[in-house]
Amino acid sequence: MRRGSIVRITIYGVLAGILASLVAVLVPWLPTSASEEMDRIEFTFWFTTIICIAVFAVVAAAIMYSVLKFRVHPEDESDGPPIHGHTGLEIVWTAIPAVLVTAISIVSAVVLAQNDDAGPNPIRIAVTAQQFAWKFEYPGEPRLTAGELVLPVDRPVKLTLRSLDVIHSFWVPEFGQKSDAVPGIETTLVITPNRTGEFSIICTELCGLGHPTMRAPVRVVNQAAYDEFLAGSAGSGGQDDSGEAVFETAGCGGCHAFAPAGTDAQVGPGLDAIDPGGQPLEDFLRESIVDPNAVLATGFQPDVMPATYESSLSDEQLDALVQYLVEGQQ
Ligand code: CUA
Repeated sequence: MRRGSIVRITIYGVLAGILASLVAVLVPWLPTSASEEMDRIEFTFWFTTIICIAVFAVVAAAIMYSVLKFRVHPEDESDGPPIHGHTGLEIVWTAIPAVLVTAISIVSAVVLAQNDDAGPNPIRIAVTAQQFAWKFEYPGEPRLTAGELVLPVDRPVKLTLRSLDVIHSFWVPEFGQKSDAVPGIETTLVITPNRTGEFSIICTELCGLGHPTMRAPVRVVNQAAYDEFLAGSAGSGGQDDSGEAVFETAGCGGCHAFAPAGTDAQVGPGLDAIDPGGQPLEDFLRESIVDPNAVLATGFQPDVMPATYESSLSDEQLDALVQYLVEGQQ
């Protein structure tokens, strides 16, 4: 091969590499990381991306050089010269990808192992998923339950996830990981937030009509604010059983519009002006919560609303929820 050809192939390769690098760097492909786990995942992505850019540059350079250098006249319809196998070349193009893929596997395996390791003393928070809400139980006595995930920054947290009905999936984009909540088993997820801020848990497993509304807030705060959150909420008996809190933690707003709660979802009937159909309003509400198929509002299908609230809500919570709805009637 002549020197001029080598220079040309090199120039094509550098150009292709620059182009691919710009696409990789300039497009915001991922959200800004907020956890150590996501940092490691990003490292894996960049490790793989750099390898891909290098391979792309070599292949693109060879193609560009061949297309330009060996182009024939449009009217030349003769066959090209016969090509024989080249054992040396085949060994090279098998060995190099094998080494690269092995390297990616090793890096990924190390990152997976590190991301699963919560260390000796993580904060343990129990996450319960149900159509269509997330509930969080914090450590300590009395046990605090909330509809919001509050985490202290720079402390490893081990979430245990369970589901009361169907499969859901816990995902906070800025934390970089997902884990399914599966009925009957307990799954775990380790998060070490390294940046304070407000994020959103998104359910990423199609779990029913209210699936797109199945979100919950996450706040990463400093240690003092976290302690204050635990103490402040625990002071009120460990669990906020007001109707407003039940409405939020049970996920009612994911499907129903209710002005006092500021929700406007349209999956289920609106709750601002309920027509109890001749029954006392309180009885009608209680029945509709524990047995949603008993009376269907016009235009709404049966079996959309979960029929699990009789077991997932305590009597006090159910009473409070009914009162909250009664007081909110217009
Ligand atoms: Cu829960 Cu989708």
